[in-house]
Amino acid sequence: MVDESIFLEKCEEARGYAFSFKDPLIVHHYDADGISSGAVVASAFLKQGKKFRRECIKKLDDGALERFEREQEIIFVDLGGGNKKVNELKDVLIIDHHQTEGIEKFQINPCLHGIDGGTELSASTTAYCVFRELVDVAIVGAAGDMQSPFSGMNRWVLEQGMEKGDVKIEEDIRFYGRYCRSLVQFLSYCDDPYIPGISYREDRTVELLNELKINFQENRKYVDLTMDERKSLISALAKILINYGQLKKVNELVGESYVFPKRPKDETFEANEFSTLLNACGRHSQPDIGVMVCLGDEEAQVQAKNLLQHHRKMLRDGIEYANNKIQNLGAFYFLDGRGIIDEGIIGTVCGMAFQQKWNRPVIGIASGENNTIKISGRGSKSLVEAGLNLGELMKRAVDEIGGAGGGHRIAAGASIPKEKLNEFLRFTGSYLGKNMPK
Ligand code: C5P
Repeated sequence: MVDESIFLEKCEEARGYAFSFKDPLIVHHYDADGISSGAVVASAFLKQGKKFRRECIKKLDDGALERFEREQEIIFVDLGGGNKKVNELKDVLIIDHHQTEGIEKFQINPCLHGIDGGTELSASTTAYCVFRELVDVAIVGAAGDMQSPFSGMNRWVLEQGMEKGDVKIEEDIRFYGRYCRSLVQFLSYCDDPYIPGISYREDRTVELLNELKINFQENRKYVDLTMDERKSLISALAKILINYGQLKKVNELVGESYVFPKRPKDETFEANEFSTLLNACGRHSQPDIGVMVCLGDEEAQVQAKNLLQHHRKMLRDGIEYANNKIQNLGAFYFLDGRGIIDEGIIGTVCGMAFQQKWNRPVIGIASGENNTIKISGRGSKSLVEAGLNLGELMKRAVDEIGGAGGGHRIAAGASIPKEKLNEFLRFTGSYLGKNMPK
């Protein structure tokens, strides 16, 4: 049973505990949700004029835990709930939303209150519930964690943002990149819903735009289209879906997105686009720049934009490789990106390469640090409804073969010793064979 008021009371208690710390180390994760949640906590401490230090990490493994043994006070954000060894540390507050068990430290985690941490609260919106700071940034984290359209407690956070005038809901075409992608990329890189003949087909996208007499030159973006052009584009996409007998999918074409009216119309104006900017920082080893952007530093935003260019190029190359090389192994689709795709973006590439029509998740691998292999798994809402739980798969796999892993039903990851790859793949095949309907 969900009792939101008990959850919020607990959040208030957590805030008191956090501010009782003298000089805590805030440790957060490096993806968009991790960066935004780290920024929410840092902003709360800055506003209170309280001392803190902040560190962003890729994973909470034994090496990291050993370093943290010396710390008197730690606030873990977007991690901590998945590793029982945190019980051995000194004063600890955990703000997490991943599946958790066996944690004895003070933990704020929606999963402990019957709130789904994969769909109804991210680390950043959980951190907002605790500190009531940077509501737009909190929304960016949840969007980055694929939690749109917001429901449950996320919706409550959204309403708080709307009341403050910091957030607005826009109903429009749901594809990513209305404000930042060129029209051709905007259409051909989107597959939710999958548009037969258009998704992943730049050539056919160009043909469609020509047929509709929509100018796509000079880096024209979706937001630059007139209302009539938007209407004719959406109708054309709907017609394609209907012609392919996918009437139900027409509803999925439009939906809500979250924009921040107080921000300039740049990469930080729309939640999904802002989250990509943060991902670009984190995935290219510059998470601190992402945190500074969240805290409003203009110089950091210039640096972040450069990282985004680089990120986009790497993603484009990665997705092209993935489209040619993904193998259907029966129990799952497999992408071996070792030596080609960076470990920081393998998850994002898997997410983009995953096609909604697939009835199995995609598992991608990349070379990791210190003789490890980085693994990322991505699925879809419909696969989760059919029983997919990638977070549990990763957790069980690393319990069996070693390494660190976890995450959500829809998106999860792990790092394993290099020599354990075959074992991991065998485990995954048999786990998904057993736990997913045919
Ligand atoms: O790294 P990737 O983007 O694939 O991670 C997907 C999800 O899995 C994230 O929410 C991340 O926190 C989680 N994860 C984890 N432990 C790991 C790697 C990823 O809990 N070692």
